[in-house]
Parts: sequence; C-alpha cells; structure tokens
Amino acid sequence: MRIQDRCIVVTGGASGIGAALARRFAAEGARGVVVADVQAAVDDVAAEVGGLGVRCDVSKESDVAALIDAAEARFGPIDLFCSNAGIFVPGGADAADRDWERSIGINVMAHIYAARVLVPRMVARGDGYLLQTASAAGLLTQIGSAPYAVTKHAVIAFAEWLSITYGDQGLKVSVLAPQAVNTAMTAGTEGGGVAGIDGMLEPQQVADVVVAGIEAEQFLILPHAEVLEYFHRKASDYDRWLRGMRRLQAQFGNMF
Ligand SMILES: NC(=O)c1ccc[n+]([C@@H]2O[C@H](COP(=O)([O-])OP(=O)(O)OC[C@H]3O[C@@H](n4cnc5c(N)ncnc54)[C@H](O)[C@@H]3O)[C@@H](O)[C@H]2O)c1
Repeated sequence: MRIQDRCIVVTGGASGIGAALARRFAAEGARGVVVADVQAAVDDVAAEVGGLGVRCDVSKESDVAALIDAAEARFGPIDLFCSNAGIFVPGGADAADRDWERSIGINVMAHIYAARVLVPRMVARGDGYLLQTASAAGLLTQIGSAPYAVTKHAVIAFAEWLSITYGDQGLKVSVLAPQAVNTAMTAGTEGGGVAGIDGMLEPQQVADVVVAGIEAEQFLILPHAEVLEYFHRKASDYDRWLRGMRRLQAQFGNMF
C-alpha cells in the first residue's frame, strides 16, 4: 500500500518509533496523520505533521473507540492503523500483578480493541491495513522480562490470526519486530542491553523500513535483518536455540 493520500493513525505517537512513523507518513504525503498517546507531547507531534493529536489510553476500550471516531470524523475512513504504543517492565512470574495487567492491557488488548472496531469496517470496504508493533522479543524472547516476552508473542499471534482470517477479504496486516531502537524505552540501558547486540537503530531508520514493508505489504517487518536468521534457527532446532539463549541470559540476565 502506498502511503500517499492515506488516513493513518499511530498510537504511542508522542515519542520514539511512533513519532518517527508519524513524521515519515506525513513526508510521504498521507492525507491525514492522527497521533494518539497518553502524553500531552502528542499535540506537538500532531502540530509538526499537520495532523490531529488525541489523548488516549490504549488500554481502555472506550478511548480506542473514541480515537477511531475522532480520526474518521476528521480525515475519513482509516486506511492504516498503527498499534504502536507499548511498555516494557522487567521481571519474571513474580512481577507485580499490576505490571502484568498493564503489559497485557497496553501491549495486547489495545490491538484487540482497535481490531474490534476497525476489522468489520475494513472488511466491509474490502480494504484496510493494520500495523502492529511487536518486537523481536515476540519472535524470539526477552531476556529479563517475562511480561514483555509473553505480551509481544501475543501481538504476533493475534496479527497472524487476523491475517489468516481476513486476508482474503481485503485486510492487510503487518507486524513490526525490531531489536533495540534508541527511544525512551531503551534509555538507561547500556547500548540497548541484550536487544542491542546487533546495534541500536534510530527511530527514523525504523520508519524507513516500515514504509518499505507497507509498500511491499510484507507481514513481517524486520528493521534488524539478523532477527530472521535467529527465527530460522529457533524453528530448525529449538533445543539448541534455548541453549544459546541461556548463554545470553547468563551474560545479560541482570541488566534490566
Ligand atoms: N525501543 C526499542 O528498542 C523497541 C524494540 C522493539 C519494539 N519496541 C516497541 O516499539 C513500540 C514503541 O516504543 P518506543 O521504543 O518508541 O518507546 P517510547 O517509550 O518512546 O514510546 C512508547 C509510547 O507509547 C506511549 N504509551 C504508553 N502507554 C500508553 C497507553 N496506555 N496509551 C497510549 N500511549 C501509551 C508512551 O507515552 C510513549 O509515547 C512499543 O510497542 C515497543 O514495545 C521498541
């Protein structure tokens, strides 16, 4: 899908990857760019891209529905909805219930709330695109964070399911699965921690890869090409892959 003339929503658009996507979509000539976030800075990004800023907590279904209504009232039917807002909390099974619940709400349910409203509309039009920001942690794992690993796997599971179920009815779905990107999320980690072993990308580099991936209508968008090789290795010999990941755990396990 070409970005030009499209109506696009980006959640988590106040900073990092989301703000870079909004800027890049505007530069590509999108008809309308709507940025949504819990942070007030979303209005600055909206002003910069000549779009609409919406304060929205994506873990609340009513906020997501209101965001979609506001976007469509301003710019018409949404062509591309980027569920990008996400949080990282460290910890294992013993992480606080509140952190598990926040991770599930923001990293998983937000995608489901958006799909509940948008998929029927997109299928009725026979056209529409959902971009879901997961992480390499969703294909591989996240050393040091069970809530992140689990919720990012769930994002990919949901995206696969949507693509299989509605792909023949005009719905396009992609997942974005980067390793370390230089944003607020990785600030304070040394070089992105374990996710930075193949280097840290800038958000605008990720946005370039996303635009190319959407133009190609590719399901898996991988700004770090190495991830595909790791994913192959995991599929071809799970036990060997787990042994390798234990070595990384020994090296990086306490970094977060
Ligand atoms: N930075 C990385 O290394 C990296 C790697 C892989 C995947 N990701 C994913 O990329 C996405 C964007 O993260 P980022 O790196 O740009 O970090 P970031 O912290 O700069 O951006 C995340 C944005 O989401 C917003 N947000 C958080 N909770 C929200 C909520 N309930 N409702 C609405 N907005 C909310 C934040 O305010 C923030 O602006 C996330 O889904 C993240 O998991 C990041």
